[in-house]
Amino acid sequence: MIKKYKKELNSKQKLKLIFEYVGKIAEEKKLDNLLHLMADLGRQLVVADRCSIWIYDKEKNELWTKVAHGIPIMRIPANTGVVGHVFTTQSEYFTNNAYDNPNFNKEVDKKTGYRTKALLALPLYDNEGVIMGAFQAVNKMTATEEFSQEDIETLKMVADYSEKSISNAMLNEEIVNTQKEIIFLMAEIGESRSKETGNHVKRVAEISSLLAILYGMDEEEAELIKMASPMHDIGKVAIPDSILKKPGKLTDEEFKHMQNHTAIGHRLLKNSERIIIKSSAIIAEQHHEKWNGKGYPNGLREEEIHPYGRISAIADVFDALASPRVYKPSWDHDRIKKLFEEEKGQHFDPVMTQVFLDNYDKFVKIIEEYKDV
Ligand code: C2E
Ligand code: SIN
Ligand code: SIN
Ligand code: SIN
Ligand code: FE
Ligand code: FE
Repeated sequence: MIKKYKKELNSKQKLKLIFEYVGKIAEEKKLDNLLHLMADLGRQLVVADRCSIWIYDKEKNELWTKVAHGIPIMRIPANTGVVGHVFTTQSEYFTNNAYDNPNFNKEVDKKTGYRTKALLALPLYDNEGVIMGAFQAVNKMTATEEFSQEDIETLKMVADYSEKSISNAMLNEEIVNTQKEIIFLMAEIGESRSKETGNHVKRVAEISSLLAILYGMDEEEAELIKMASPMHDIGKVAIPDSILKKPGKLTDEEFKHMQNHTAIGHRLLKNSERIIIKSSAIIAEQHHEKWNGKGYPNGLREEEIHPYGRISAIADVFDALASPRVYKPSWDHDRIKKLFEEEKGQHFDPVMTQVFLDNYDKFVKIIEEYKDV
């Protein structure tokens, strides 16, 4: 087999590549995308066949490939292989003859069927200077098939430059995950008062995010709605059991009381600066507003109602009708569809309602998937 070698990049080509990537790296907030950018840039700059980013898993004392070109996710004990050596000694290392090198871990090749020859790795640190993994390049694609000290320097530069963005993204992910957990916890506490609703918050979250996507919102916004909507009824924590769990129809007086759950939810959530909680506040306040202005608590109409409010109104009512409640059995789907046809442009945003009806079966699937047991 004749190998097709590539040329080493000259400094002008390197600069061009770096300029192409710096903006992207500085702006990228998602950890996965960031690490991919870093691996891509590294691979091109040192003309490697692939680059991997290994992250340390403290609990298992393993290193795993968060990002790797062309191979599945790998896990190795943190003290094995060239990567483990680099991680443990916290110093860079390269070999151009992996199989003759005592540090090399053949297990990875065995699992992937790949043949490693040249291998270069250096430690990766987080913002606070704590080691978090290793950055690795495999197989030099130029005629020498050998990495050089210069390649190490180049990858170090990429790692140094990316470090701050990566740490920020990790921190950000940590915060977002914490927020998600807290929101779900609070929503569950709220829901546990009205036992019959079981997975209501979960279903409303899934239904809302699917509707957001089908309506044309991007993934990120749909994800935000999904995270925020479990809190829509959090204000019910302030509603007495005698009303919340009443098996029959509410009196006008009781219903007035019940309606306060929107304003109460808003009051509980409105002071946060966090985007998810802010969105929760909007949804808690507006999920019972109606397109025709006859909803509560503020009688907003049409586009005065935030899109998140309009989406969650559809999701909330759909779930309330498709699932049984203490005060009523569930409806059959023809009856539900008929209600949405009638309420299109009355209770609900007409465009969103149409999107909902056009995709009705997909929403039924969600109800079935998260059925209360
Ligand atoms: P929920 O059970 O989550 O219901 C949410 C929304 O779904 C309701 O908002 C209403 O717009 C719609 N919905 C639910 N069941 C029906 C129905 O049988 N027919 C129609 N046309 N729409 C329905 P709404 O009315 O503002 O109620 C807010 C919350 O107040 C409800 O949340 C529920 O917790 C409570 N609630 C409302 N009516 C009664 C009742 O008669 N008895 C009891 N115990 N609670 C009620
Ligand atoms: C090693 O670090 O020794 C093996 C890792 C690899 O082949 O990717
Ligand atoms: C709920 O019980 O309301 C939430 C369901 C879940 O924990 O996934
Ligand atoms: C309503 O539709 O007015 C409230 C829900 C119910 O009364 O069952
Ligand atoms: Fe509500
Ligand atoms: Fe609800």
